[in-house]
Amino acid sequence: MGLLEEKIAVVTGVANKRSIAWGIARAFDREGAQLVLTYQTDRFLENLQKLVPELSHTPQLVPLDVSDDDSLAQLTDAVRARYDAVHVLVHSIAHADANDLSGRFLDTSRAGYHLAQDVSAYSLTALVRSLHPLLIQAGRASVITMTHLGSVRVMPNYNVMGVAKAALESSVRYLAYDLGREGIRVNAISAGPIKTLAASGVKGISTALHSTVEKAPIPENITTEDVGNAAVFLASPWSERITGMILYVDSGSHILGF
Ligand SMILES: NC(=O)c1ccc[n+]([C@@H]2O[C@H](COP(=O)([O-])OP(=O)(O)OC[C@H]3O[C@@H](n4cnc5c(N)ncnc54)[C@H](O)[C@@H]3O)[C@@H](O)[C@H]2O)c1
Repeated sequence: MGLLEEKIAVVTGVANKRSIAWGIARAFDREGAQLVLTYQTDRFLENLQKLVPELSHTPQLVPLDVSDDDSLAQLTDAVRARYDAVHVLVHSIAHADANDLSGRFLDTSRAGYHLAQDVSAYSLTALVRSLHPLLIQAGRASVITMTHLGSVRVMPNYNVMGVAKAALESSVRYLAYDLGREGIRVNAISAGPIKTLAASGVKGISTALHSTVEKAPIPENITTEDVGNAAVFLASPWSERITGMILYVDSGSHILGF
């Protein structure tokens, strides 16, 4: 019997097989969850259609653009048409203008700042708001988002995304406070560097991967499977009274002072 048997899990952010969200989807599937997977564009739908045969339960596939309120409402309608409740919601989405992910943070434009905040931080609140009635119906639900150490420490080139992740982590705490009485927990996983589509947009990802192996307490890079297993913990009853927390899955890099 899996840890997520009979649970409905909405997992956003699978772009391809390297996506962190795909590692989470596979771990949830292994534990018996029934998945709803969202995709941003038709290009990503094609990738998803190639991947889903790897899952043991056929997922529902729904388009989602988190910057569009109608799209968020359509996701909720599509899920409600099939299920009475959502037990787990995974937000694994981020985007910033490539020009803002290198050079100096000082040069961030107003438009670039707004874009990063809207897609990478506000989208968590927007998604939770939209699915709120279905999360309440679960009785006990778990919301999980993805963050990075660049929210609290300076990571060269991460720039506007670090500021967006700081807002995202603060949102986790405020949402956890608002929703705890309704049985909804909200946590984040702060992942070490993984070579994904989004990560390749940040200049210096190879240096970050190299420096984990060189300096982290556990001298190994993390995998999407590691994140998937941590997400299973946060989604399952084993973490029932944990909320508002940032769980580091980064081979211990966050404890370093050098
Ligand atoms: N890869 C890393 O090193 C790393 C480390 C820590 C945290 N993260 C975070 O993990 C999350 C997933 O990123 P990833 O590394 O798996 O990369 P990825 O490129 O595989 O996933 C990013 C996803 O965001 C989606 N997205 C972007 N804009 C969207 C929009 N407007 N509407 C809906 N979806 C949208 C993309 O379609 C894609 O599926 C992000 O929040 C990222 O910041 C990544």
